[in-house]
Amino acid sequence: MSLVKMRELLEKADKGDYGVGAFSIANMEMIIGAVRAAEELNYPLILQIAEVRLKHSPLDLISPVMIEAAKTAKVPVAVHLDHGVNIETIKQALEVGFTSVMFDGSHLPLDENIKKTKEVIELAKKYGATVEAEIGRVGGSEDGSEDIAVLATSVEDAERFYKETKVDALALAIGNAHGVYKEEPILQFQRLKEIDDAIEIPLVLHGGSGIKPEEFKKCIKYGIKKINVATATFNNVVKRVDELMKNSDSVDYFTYHNKVIEATYENVKNHMNIFKSYE
Ligand code: 13P
Repeated sequence: MSLVKMRELLEKADKGDYGVGAFSIANMEMIIGAVRAAEELNYPLILQIAEVRLKHSPLDLISPVMIEAAKTAKVPVAVHLDHGVNIETIKQALEVGFTSVMFDGSHLPLDENIKKTKEVIELAKKYGATVEAEIGRVGGSEDGSEDIAVLATSVEDAERFYKETKVDALALAIGNAHGVYKEEPILQFQRLKEIDDAIEIPLVLHGGSGIKPEEFKKCIKYGIKKINVATATFNNVVKRVDELMKNSDSVDYFTYHNKVIEATYENVKNHMNIFKSYE
């Protein structure tokens, strides 16, 4: 199976009416856990890391592990840079072999977001890589450092953005937010459906942690094909490790190490089982 382009995974998902999970990882154990879940369910996987997290897991160290894990996996795996902001980082990710990148220009005026996204698309073309962009503003922030309010994506902006960039996948703001939801999210399915009817590319849902199974399914039905999950995995790892520590007098390193793998596996598997179909 092995390392594939994200475009291929999303096109198949579009035809098959299922969603592909893009799971954020921070270390080798989390990569092993995510791949294990995908192999067990025989399900495609997007392994991703956000630019803001590279200060914890440097790209030159984490990327060979991500790419090798993808190449040796028994299922198709795409390796993705999430929330790329600086062109230099995007270039580095493409250079080390990531098969897709996100350029996040959602904080920019639309014209500028279009211009910069087109530059990233030109760059990615040289590597045959897939590009995801974002318009509207998803709430919160990827690393929890900012509390950004949701600014829902309009149908007109989505249409114009797609027409002018021809980007491969588009992340939308429809009431979703990164991190732990302070209040129950109210997703704008009608808006999602209208955008899906207006543009033909796979749509992306950020802020997957905390969304209910039936809402995920409704999102998939209305055009979401890539679903980002980060906080739920990180929190499950912390929770399971905490339980382990509290329940034993002494824990050796490798018991802890295996717990990180297991907790990642558990969360990835739970989400993949939901994303399998919209029924
Ligand atoms: P959560 O941390 O809310 O799952 O969001 C993940 C995400 O959208 C990464 O881009």
